[in-house]
Amino acid sequence: MDDKCAVVITGASSGIGRACSLFLDQRGYRVFAGVRTFSAAEKLKTEASSRLAPIMLDITDTAQIRRAVQEIKTKLGISGRLVGLINNAGIILSGPLEFFPLERLREQLHVNVIGPIAITQAFLPLIRDGKGRIINMGSASGLFAPPFLGPYAASKFAMEAWTDALRRELRPEGIPVSLIESGAIETPIWDKSQAIANFLESELPDHGKTLYANALAIGRKQIENLRRRAASPLVVAKVIHKALISHNPKPRYLVGMDAHAQAFISRWVPARLVDDVIAKLLFRD
Ligand SMILES: NC(=O)c1ccc[n+]([C@@H]2O[C@H](COP(=O)([O-])OP(=O)(O)OC[C@H]3O[C@@H](n4cnc5c(N)ncnc54)[C@H](OP(=O)(O)O)[C@@H]3O)[C@@H](O)[C@H]2O)c1
Repeated sequence: MDDKCAVVITGASSGIGRACSLFLDQRGYRVFAGVRTFSAAEKLKTEASSRLAPIMLDITDTAQIRRAVQEIKTKLGISGRLVGLINNAGIILSGPLEFFPLERLREQLHVNVIGPIAITQAFLPLIRDGKGRIINMGSASGLFAPPFLGPYAASKFAMEAWTDALRRELRPEGIPVSLIESGAIETPIWDKSQAIANFLESELPDHGKTLYANALAIGRKQIENLRRRAASPLVVAKVIHKALISHNPKPRYLVGMDAHAQAFISRWVPARLVDDVIAKLLFRD
């Protein structure tokens, strides 16, 4: 890969975005790594080659998106090509939908749905010029919605939909669009989302606690079990790389046994049966 081939990766400060940035940097790409703080930019620079350029990019900030596009356009010059946009940045907000604060729901959808669409709109001209492609970081939660993960699952189901629509809109131009549907990956997102979930649970009204506290505690244990089997972010970085170099990239890449299981359940197991099993697991006395 020559260093005229550039990629933009959002949410590169940690987890999958960081692993992907370093992996593609090692393979010779010119990586524009979206971060939100100077300390994250400095840290990433110490871990990568001099090719990697951190870019200040909060995907909910319109002015920052505009500046990032200009900056990257200038840095690409006339010979550089943007060959990939990787919409990776995301957050997980969770809790019982009955009491879920609507401003938090807006935040979830802003970061995980509107933000990546805004980024895609802004970078599409450069992707088109560079004969590049778009890779969206979906999730197994875009296929199967467990209780209490409604806000996050809604955002990733939405990503399934708009990725399909975009892929079909760009097909005539030959711009591939792929979705990564990953299962559990060991990243800081688990601790961040648990901290927010704990806070939101503490804010539940008393009757909310009566209704849901037991099930939430059981759910927490199940999440801990799932996390114990979580894969390394490098596994996802390698799949993203595959989607980036494939001559015939797939619309979807399922990553991990747990993602395959959730895809199978959502497709083949009757919803009533799934609901019964979940109710027995979570809402037992
Ligand atoms: N970990 C998993 O098990 C898993 C499984 C399936 C899918 N995913 C998806 O993978 C993606 C990356 O998650 P991760 O697990 O690597 O989590 P992570 O380590 O928490 O990384 C999330 C990244 O998103 C960034 N971010 C958050 N809000 C942003 C905003 N408004 N603008 C720009 N960047 C923002 C964070 O930046 P700051 O450091 O500045 O907050 C961070 O760099 C997410 O879309 C997630 O839904 C994760």
